[in-house]
Amino acid sequence: MKVKNQIILALDVEDKDEAYKILDQTTPYLNTIKIGYPITLALGPQIIQQIKDDYNVQIIADFKVADIDATNEKIVNTTLNWGADSIIVHGFTGDDSVLAAKNMAEKNNKEIFLLTEMSHPGADRFLKPVAEEIAQMGVDMGIKNYVAPATKTDRLAKIREIVGDEAFIISPGVGVQGGKIQDTLKYADAAIIGRSIYNSDNPQQTLEDLINMI
Ligand code: XMP
Repeated sequence: MKVKNQIILALDVEDKDEAYKILDQTTPYLNTIKIGYPITLALGPQIIQQIKDDYNVQIIADFKVADIDATNEKIVNTTLNWGADSIIVHGFTGDDSVLAAKNMAEKNNKEIFLLTEMSHPGADRFLKPVAEEIAQMGVDMGIKNYVAPATKTDRLAKIREIVGDEAFIISPGVGVQGGKIQDTLKYADAAIIGRSIYNSDNPQQTLEDLINMI
């Protein structure tokens, strides 16, 4: 995946006019938008293809898929059929669940991102102790794309070490959650940024400022 300016916008707004206003200001600089449950549940899954058609961007569906294999397969297939280019899948569910998601994405000529460790403080309790094993599982399964936290650069660095230089890592947590873009991009290929862009008074200026820091 090629991410323009190494920034992915997390478009977690729930109103279409607001979403389009932010996209108008940011897509001259971006080619990758992460959509998640907030916008999809508010506006319906059609919003994925609408945004793609109206802004010529690629969409990562952050649905953090975490079910049994048979259900993961359906979630991945349906999401990709709604137009998403890739989908984020949890790794803690184990290799059978992840493999079902990976195989279904490949059948659609698309890709999964494997979520290793999360960016919020609460993730230290249950996810951090197994994150390195999840990353290694991904390597053993031949997964190329990963999600790892911008808020914990030591952990991001460790996950980079495990998945290798050829892997593609996207990293949430820059801005409001405390991560710094320059530190994040030492280890990740792209930063996922939401609130500090879409809640700012001038999303375009904020984005330009972030790009200038890279
Ligand atoms: P903010 O507003 O904090 O948005 O810049 C961050 C975005 O990323 C999502 N998020 C994650 N997604 N693994 C993920 O796959 C994570 O560890 C993680 N942490 C945050 C969050 O839902 C929002 O869309």
